[in-house]
Amino acid sequence: MSLKSCTESGQVVLLLLVFVALSILTIAQDELQGVEVWAQDFHSFSRPDEVVVRHLDLNLKVDFDQRRLIGRVGLQIENRTGADYLFLDTRDLEIEKVSLVKDEREVETHFSLTPAVDYLGSRLMVAIESDTRQVNIDYRTTPGAAALQWLGPEQTADGTDPFLFTQSQAILARSWVPCQDTPSVRMTYHARVEVPEGLMAVMSATNSQTLRPDGIYEFDMPQPIPSYLLALAVGKLEFGEISPRAGVYAEPSVVDDAAWEFADTEKMIEEAEKLYGPYRWDRYDIIVLPPSFPFGGMENPRLTFATPTILAGDRSLVGLVAHELAHSWSGNLVTNATWNELWLNEGFTTYFEHRIMEAVYGEDYERMLAVLAYRDLEDALDRLGRDNPLTALFLNLAGRDPDSGLTEIPYQKGHFFLRTLEKAIGREVWDPFLRKYFSEYGFQSITTTKFLNYLKSELLDGLDRDLMEELKIHDWLFEPGLPSSVVSVRSDQLSQVDTQVDRFQSGTPASQLDTEGWGTHHWLYFLRSFPDEMSVKQMRDLDQAFRFTETGNSEILAAWLQKVIVSNYEKGYPAVHDFLVRQGRRKFLVPLYERLSKTSEGLSLAREIYGEARPRYHPLSQATIDEILNWTNGPADSTEN
Ligand code: BES
Ligand code: ZN
Repeated sequence: MSLKSCTESGQVVLLLLVFVALSILTIAQDELQGVEVWAQDFHSFSRPDEVVVRHLDLNLKVDFDQRRLIGRVGLQIENRTGADYLFLDTRDLEIEKVSLVKDEREVETHFSLTPAVDYLGSRLMVAIESDTRQVNIDYRTTPGAAALQWLGPEQTADGTDPFLFTQSQAILARSWVPCQDTPSVRMTYHARVEVPEGLMAVMSATNSQTLRPDGIYEFDMPQPIPSYLLALAVGKLEFGEISPRAGVYAEPSVVDDAAWEFADTEKMIEEAEKLYGPYRWDRYDIIVLPPSFPFGGMENPRLTFATPTILAGDRSLVGLVAHELAHSWSGNLVTNATWNELWLNEGFTTYFEHRIMEAVYGEDYERMLAVLAYRDLEDALDRLGRDNPLTALFLNLAGRDPDSGLTEIPYQKGHFFLRTLEKAIGREVWDPFLRKYFSEYGFQSITTTKFLNYLKSELLDGLDRDLMEELKIHDWLFEPGLPSSVVSVRSDQLSQVDTQVDRFQSGTPASQLDTEGWGTHHWLYFLRSFPDEMSVKQMRDLDQAFRFTETGNSEILAAWLQKVIVSNYEKGYPAVHDFLVRQGRRKFLVPLYERLSKTSEGLSLAREIYGEARPRYHPLSQATIDEILNWTNGPADSTEN
């Protein structure tokens, strides 16, 4: 292969570049201490203040045999300062050739790549001219690309064909497209993707609902989006309709169940629009991915990516759809400018998710979700420590993988902050404020400070009460822990569960508890009300009465299996093994492996299971579990999947 990196520049210049790259990072780090307005995104090598990418033209061939995407990206740029270079993010890409389009002719240009820096990858520096409008890059991805998971047929629901999906958030897009990989830059895109015959390709863009006999798919994303929302999935897919503007893609054996499970999607979109303004992305589809998808969901615009573990058969886990849908406003429309501001995406979205759930399923139902969410928040604070800087809403992730900021805090502390504001201000004022926020900052990025200023000028300054002081708004945003002003939530439904928990703990046999009419959230609350460690006798009693070990509900099973491990309930062990092998959702894996690794027998069981399961997990889940189990000692070839 003709790799032409640094052909002319040589070693000295290369070293110089590394030095410059590293010093930029350090400066950014220094500048950041205490100054949250620093607009520079130090998780990107790009310099959008000099040259900004406005549009991408992707032309890719999906090669399952080689596990590579091969092709070209054309970048339309705006050179704002007459700069001589365009800086892009890449990670593990093989760049073959870079050219500039000049008077409709292509002219090859010089480029160089710095050596890879951990999770940041390599900076690609391309020589451009002051009037350059388009840069073409011929490249291919490498088989270990962090954003891509290549699955063999045996890792899919139907077992007939291979599958590929991407996960670009937070900074993985650079491992499949050379780009300005920062949420502060938005671009439109067009793509042409060639896949093996019989497979369907879908993207975060306009999608085909039918199979193309030639395997060639074309896509448009006419609204500008940040790079972390670039997404592609390829597999044996079928489309199922939910409503005229909503539908579901899934493997043939899953598509009907999925369409049934998500039947309320249209209602959710309508309620969301009533709350915070029009849905700006035309269609809303959901793709159900194979079980190794490391997240619950991912809000790729027009096409939410979802784990199959939410197909509970009773629509009780569709809060996830409300969440990903809510991102169509908070995140996809108004976007966190850097990963330090993740709460602006996830906190707003979690708040909005609860508003949608309330509107569609009623107040009583949402209260249960809110009480469970508050528990998640308390648990996260306990686990991280209430003086841990990671428990502030605004984070300082300089010099760290943005993945390290991904805890429950941006979600639930963000959610409860907005809930607290809502309560103090009143929905009649609060809701119009948010509607205006989404319309005013639509298709823009936002920082915590910008939001705070907007909140002050639009809302707080006009009030007689000094809510800034009273609610400790500054503490919410910039201090660790949980301010005492936090609104409290109560659920009558769950108070009834409390009664049954008390009865069980004071000796009433499980079969005599009053559990009539309980749904998923009663059961989750019930299980989470007991300590992890219970007597084997209690575990057996609960299991005989309620058959937790056999439940088909992934959330209930995950909560139960944690107790199985800590309480040494051996009858549940095969289910632990089965659950860890058959799905790879990180949120379910982490607590189970963590608990297993606490004892020496548990650890050896965990390592045995992991040896079998690891090749099926996504690289993101692998990295997390490797750390928990100290897997560097594990089989050397286990990264192959
Ligand atoms: N955007 C997130 C997933 C994400 C965040 C990926 C940060 C990478 C970096 C998505 O919207 C999300 O929050 N998913 C949750 C589900 C939700 C119901 C809380 C998940 O996957 O658990
Ligand atoms: Zn989210």
